[in-house]
Amino acid sequence: MSPPAEGFSKIGVLGAGTMGAGIVQVAAQAGYEVVACDRAPEALSRAQTYLRDGLGRFVRKGVITDGEAEAAYGRVRWTTELGDLGGSDAAIEVIVERVEPKKEAFAALDALLPEEALLLSNTSSISITELASATRRPDRVAGTHFFTPPPLREAVEVPRGLLTSDGTIERVKALLTSFGKLPVVLNKAVPGFVANRFLMPMLLEGARLYEQGVASKEEIDLLVKKGLGFPIGPFELGDFIGLDVGLDVLEYVHRELGDPYYAPPHLLKEHVRAGRLGHKTGRGFYDYGGGSEDE
Ligand SMILES: NC(=O)c1ccc[n+]([C@@H]2O[C@H](COP(=O)([O-])OP(=O)(O)OC[C@H]3O[C@@H](n4cnc5c(N)ncnc54)[C@H](O)[C@@H]3O)[C@@H](O)[C@H]2O)c1
Repeated sequence: MSPPAEGFSKIGVLGAGTMGAGIVQVAAQAGYEVVACDRAPEALSRAQTYLRDGLGRFVRKGVITDGEAEAAYGRVRWTTELGDLGGSDAAIEVIVERVEPKKEAFAALDALLPEEALLLSNTSSISITELASATRRPDRVAGTHFFTPPPLREAVEVPRGLLTSDGTIERVKALLTSFGKLPVVLNKAVPGFVANRFLMPMLLEGARLYEQGVASKEEIDLLVKKGLGFPIGPFELGDFIGLDVGLDVLEYVHRELGDPYYAPPHLLKEHVRAGRLGHKTGRGFYDYGGGSEDE
């Protein structure tokens, strides 16, 4: 474990869903005092289970001891009160991938956090300049785009906004390095950043080929994995990240670039409308035991 980064002791995480829970684990394992805030109490209890299970897996693999796992768990404070994030040296926003809720969250965090604190976003597509515009500290706002699952994926994309200072980027790099991560700084936040400009076409092409009846979902996933050698196929990937998150990213990138290529496929929209969001709802493109089999 790397030593804590200078100037950081308390890390706030706003949103404890699929990604927030993993980021809480990463920060707690790195030795920070963590405040995990979600407005949904059920999200907090799922995140607590995620943290217990995740730390337990590291203990079984011999990466950490039982005592270290207990200590990491004990460093996290769980809350539904935004005010409990006050006093954080950095807050990482991990809520829904939409501009307005994120800007509201940034304005609220800006009013709450100490002047020197960093406001970071796990957005996977949205302009950091736009999120920073909701604050009075645009120079201390940056992206920290963790990949799923955060405890296992090493690289973190760091998109900067137009007004993000070099000093902030250095502090973000130090913080992520202390988390055991490999930060990759982007010179600007293009819609979808680097990662989703690769990932979203995979989801798009998979859905379009399936809609055109070229091959089944299983066959497309099989070709991508066992033919191209990718670790995961497009339909499995969509279910893993959450189809609602994928749709939000595509809608944002499509709107920002004005490129019809990124228009979300009908299939994806219909799955989201039906509440088939992937692993998190038990059913997405595939069934994980959370819905009736009718296809
Ligand atoms: N799912 C992925 O694979 C993935 C990967 C990288 C980045 N991201 C990004 O991470 C962010 C979160 O994605 P996710 O998959 O964890 O979503 P999620 O839906 O699983 O979790 C979001 C959580 O935020 C909470 N929330 C929403 N608004 C809130 C508010 N105003 N205050 C407090 N809590 C609030 C919700 O209750 C929910 O628990 C998005 O910006 C997404 O683009 C997701």
